[in-house]
Amino acid sequence: MKKLYLTSPDQSQPVPKYINLTELSACRSTNDYINENIDSLIESIPVLVSADIQTRGRGREGRKWIPVGEGGIYISYLFDIKNRESITFLSLAAATAVADAVYRTTGMKVQLKWPNDIELSGLKAGGILIENKIFKDNTLAVIGIGLNVNVREQQLKSKISKTATSLSMISGRKINIGELILRISEYLLYFKEKIEDKQYDHILERYLFYLKHKQGNELKFKSSGEKIKGTFLKINDKGGLVLKKENGEEEIFYSGEILRSV
Ligand code: BTN
Repeated sequence: MKKLYLTSPDQSQPVPKYINLTELSACRSTNDYINENIDSLIESIPVLVSADIQTRGRGREGRKWIPVGEGGIYISYLFDIKNRESITFLSLAAATAVADAVYRTTGMKVQLKWPNDIELSGLKAGGILIENKIFKDNTLAVIGIGLNVNVREQQLKSKISKTATSLSMISGRKINIGELILRISEYLLYFKEKIEDKQYDHILERYLFYLKHKQGNELKFKSSGEKIKGTFLKINDKGGLVLKKENGEEEIFYSGEILRSV
C-alpha cells in the first residue's frame, strides 16, 4: 500500500491529505476486492484500490461492467461517512467529482445522466457503483468508478460498440490516466467532506452544470421493474430525481434508471 498525496481543489487545505492506495495489475472487480478484504482495509481508511484490468466488473441495477481491457480507469474507494443522512447525495457527489476531474485534466465537458452515468456525445463513457455498509456506529461506502479513458474503438465489444465510447475516442488524443485518478480522488474527498458538513449547494450546482436533463424534459424511467413516463422537474437536495408523472402526481426517486430522455 502506498500513500497518494492530495491537494484540495480550492487550495484551502492547510494539512496535506492522503489516501492509502493499492495498485493491482488485474482483478475481477475493484469493489469486490474491497468487500473481500474489508476487515484489513478498514484500518487504512481512506482507501483507494485501482486495477489496470478488471475481468468481472459489476454495474448498477445488477448489470455487468463489460471488460474492455487496458486504457480504462477501474477504481474503488473505501470511505467512512460521518453524516449518515448524506449517503443518498454521495452518488451525485461522485459523479460530479469525475466530471470536474475530467474537465480540469482534459478540458472536455462530460454529460451526466441521473444519477451517475458519464456520457460523451450521448454515449456512455463511465459509470459509478456505490455499495453502502451501514453498521450501528458507522457507515462505510465503497465507491466504484469505471471510466473509458484511452480505450480504442476496437476494444469495445459488439454488445456495447453502439452505446459506449471513451475520452480518447472523442478527443482524438491520449490522456494521462494517473493524473485523472489523482484529480478524481482530490475532488471526491473534498466533496465527501462538504456533504458531511451538509454543504450540498456547491456540489449540486456543479452537478446541474453537467446534467443532461433540463427542467421540462420528457423522460422514460424504470424503477423496481416498472416503466414510468414523466416530466423532469428537478433534483432535490438529497439527490433524488423529482418527476411529474402522467397522472399529474409528483414522485421522488432515489434509485432506478432513465431509459430515454427527450
Ligand atoms: C454502471 O454504470 O452501471 C456502474 C459501473 C461501475 C463500474 C466500476 S469499474 C470499478 C468498480 N468495480 C466494479 O466492479 N464496478 C465499478
